[in-house]
Amino acid sequence: MEKTVVELFAGVGGFRIGLNHIKRENKSYSEENNFEFLWVNQWEPSTKTQEAFDCYKTHFGNEKNELINKDISLISKKDIPNHTLLVGGFPCQDYSVAHSLKHEKGIEGKKGVLWRQIYEVLLTKKPPFVLLENVDRLLKSPSKQRGRDFGIILKSFDIAGYFVQWKVINAADYGMPQRRRRIYIFASKKSTKYSKKMKKKDILEILNNESIFAKTFKAEQILNYKEYDLTIYDNQVDVSTDFKASFENYGIMMNGKIYTSKYIPVVEEPIKLKQIIEKNVDEKYFLSTIDQEKFKYLRGSKKIERQRNDGTTYFYSEGSMSPYDSLDLPGRTMLTSEGTINRSTHIILDPEKNKLRKLTPIECERLNQFPDNWTEGMPDRKRYFMMGNALVTGIISKIGDEIYKIIDKED
Ligand SMILES: C[S@@+](CC[C@H](N)C(=O)[O-])C[C@H]1O[C@@H](n2cnc3c(N)ncnc32)[C@H](O)[C@@H]1O
Repeated sequence: MEKTVVELFAGVGGFRIGLNHIKRENKSYSEENNFEFLWVNQWEPSTKTQEAFDCYKTHFGNEKNELINKDISLISKKDIPNHTLLVGGFPCQDYSVAHSLKHEKGIEGKKGVLWRQIYEVLLTKKPPFVLLENVDRLLKSPSKQRGRDFGIILKSFDIAGYFVQWKVINAADYGMPQRRRRIYIFASKKSTKYSKKMKKKDILEILNNESIFAKTFKAEQILNYKEYDLTIYDNQVDVSTDFKASFENYGIMMNGKIYTSKYIPVVEEPIKLKQIIEKNVDEKYFLSTIDQEKFKYLRGSKKIERQRNDGTTYFYSEGSMSPYDSLDLPGRTMLTSEGTINRSTHIILDPEKNKLRKLTPIECERLNQFPDNWTEGMPDRKRYFMMGNALVTGIISKIGDEIYKIIDKED
């Protein structure tokens, strides 16, 4: 089996950086070429300009791969080349924690339906292995029918003939510089040697020792698990109507049976903000007195009276945050609004000037373990946005190394 890859929803290439351990060395990028990327798709529906695609093309445009800047739903899946590994961080806006519950639409919402695009690829191209990333909220959404969305995803994998494993991983628990908690989903076609080998094993043995996540991210021993049965539903529509589950942060699905368990990570010392910050930072990243006041208000505790659609009122309240982020901790979760005047934007006390400032785009790239200046060339606000959308590439490197070994053992 060749180590060929198709990357969907590619953004600025986090999966590729992770899988191929791309590092920056003296301004030229070295790619280990572990995995051969054949076909890549990225299209930003909300803007005319296509900065993410342009960035991807700058780095990989000269290589032997097809880069497609077109809405994935307009592409016939037959036109995608055969490949061994399908990867992608499919858009998560609809169940993102950044939105209030009122706006939550879940997988049936406008962007959520992009899952169907992945499903079509599974049915048409039947890739032996799949690696996906999403927000951890996916396990719980929508709030009125907990677990429905992830149930639909698992049912789709089951119909397409896959064995599925998932784990919610906080990158900072495993020595990385950002407290970014995301769900990683690894699926293998039932016909692979790998899936057949797994099928013979005991569930606790898989959860504790054999799963791709047990091999890559150390955890405390698991003693029990919950079960859910998807075989009683004929299709995704039935799941969508009736299925509810309280999924834990770790689990597998085999032949339509779900086994899920809460895992506790064996944590490693994280990289701290002080280890990734730049020196001699440009004055434009320092806060003006007015902005300092704005951030003080945003990060402070407050209780605000708001009005519902029916005219009744309620109090929205939030607690206080520290006035600026500790340099002795890894970063918090970076959102696409990073860099704007927003409660979630990182603010640090610059140790050289003893003044408050935002993170620089390079520091944000480092929070995701991207090579420095990967997104150079686009406006700063876009650079922050791209990093808010991207992932901590070290996680993908670890999972990718294990996938590499798994593929090596296939015929
Ligand atoms: C969560 S981001 C993935 C980021 C990526 N993993 C990275 O490292 O940069 C999802 C991406 O899907 C893209 N996207 C959204 N709708 C799309 C569509 N209809 N067709 C293709 N790409 C789409 C967005 O522009 C965004 O870059």
